[in-house]
Amino acid sequence: MTRLSRRDLLLGGTGVLGAFTLGGLVSAKAQAADHSLTIASLDHGILPETVTQGMMSFAADGPPPVLRLKRGQKTSIDVSNALNEASVVHWHGLRIANAMDGVPYLTQHPIETGQSFRYEFTPPDAGTFWYHPHCNTLEQMSRGLTGMMIVEEDEDPGFDEDLPLNIRDFRLGGDGQFIAFYKARNAARGGTLGTVSTVNWKVAPTFDLAAGSLVRLRLAVTDITRVGTYEITGGEAQVIAIDSNPLPRPVPAKDLILSPGQRADIALRVPDREEEPVTLRLKRRNGDRDLATFRPRGQSLRRELRELKPLQPNPVPEADLANAEVMEFVFGWSPEGDAPQPSICGTLGYTFWSINRKAWPGDLPGPFDPLATLKLGKSYILRLRNESPNAHPIHLHGVSFRLLQSNKRKLPPLVTDTALLLEEETLDVALVADNPGDWAFHCHVIEHQKTGLTGFLRIEA
Ligand code: C2O
Ligand code: CU
Ligand code: CU
Repeated sequence: MTRLSRRDLLLGGTGVLGAFTLGGLVSAKAQAADHSLTIASLDHGILPETVTQGMMSFAADGPPPVLRLKRGQKTSIDVSNALNEASVVHWHGLRIANAMDGVPYLTQHPIETGQSFRYEFTPPDAGTFWYHPHCNTLEQMSRGLTGMMIVEEDEDPGFDEDLPLNIRDFRLGGDGQFIAFYKARNAARGGTLGTVSTVNWKVAPTFDLAAGSLVRLRLAVTDITRVGTYEITGGEAQVIAIDSNPLPRPVPAKDLILSPGQRADIALRVPDREEEPVTLRLKRRNGDRDLATFRPRGQSLRRELRELKPLQPNPVPEADLANAEVMEFVFGWSPEGDAPQPSICGTLGYTFWSINRKAWPGDLPGPFDPLATLKLGKSYILRLRNESPNAHPIHLHGVSFRLLQSNKRKLPPLVTDTALLLEEETLDVALVADNPGDWAFHCHVIEHQKTGLTGFLRIEA
């Protein structure tokens, strides 16, 4: 593949990928896109009787919109940047062309103030996804820039209602204003937790649902730090998909561990009687927290879970394990390193983490070397080895992988884009390198991502 030079990126260049920079800008004016997002600052009430200043959203007047696409159908999304800093948007979990992946310099020039960029792609997989910036990521996500994206199946599974639940914390003081987005000493360990848990930007919201109906709860953990254990109490609730990939067999919605970036689709059969509420509960050592309540309303529809059509698997290729090459990636502390270099996409000013003992130098024009180069079409086993005493949700852009085995636990054979790597765990995952390009590979605890735990894999013919 052609390497992008700094000049290519800055000038729109002549490279194959560089052409998208200008292509995106020009075509945006030609015809209205299917969707449009404006990245903007706003003041918005999160805590009662307060207005949080300096929030950021993908809409000028409220929480990020839920984008609904159809599997196999081409879509276009215009993103305009009304912030007074650069940004760029990544579509988490979508296996789309590299030039549409929204990673600064690796795939496109950041979208600067007042500029817009048109993303165009055809989602190959159905399920629950999300989107977020990949520029000044810690601050922009902390201020609110995490939205949900739903790709509908070809065949409607038969729910009465579809309810996206964007689960995340904010770091707010009692006055409802942002406090420091992170603490350096936490960034060097497990990460800094938020102070206020929200669902769709609301604290402990209540949703009215038709009694006896079938509801698809779409959980997306878009928080920057929190690895949580979730459960649905009341009703009948089964997990039917994780990270947009259907489970071969549904499992009860109990003890469901989700880390930043992960999603779960839950089929809920709402109780028949109004006095039997259902809750989405975050289980915590220091006290469980009900994140949302669902109230049955009206005469029971008397539906049953078995009336739902099972979700069809996504067309993710199966790795050929017998011929797969094993590649090891070690996640650990950073060797004594320089602080990341300043960038228009921000830096926290520290280096704490590394992959294969190299810390990411920051979101810079590069060019940088990939952690590994994979041959297009070949099968690989990535051996993810965590040398640190902290957990890391490891995320790969552009391709999905299957969990194979761990040295610590029995794993379900899930297909995913984000795998929680426990402390000192070694996890083998398998993939087919079927999507060419430079694919970001990083921890989704954003403090880790921004202090070294980032790199990229190159897939080339
Ligand atoms: Cu959801 Cu590179 O991230
Ligand atoms: Cu991603
Ligand atoms: Cu991490």
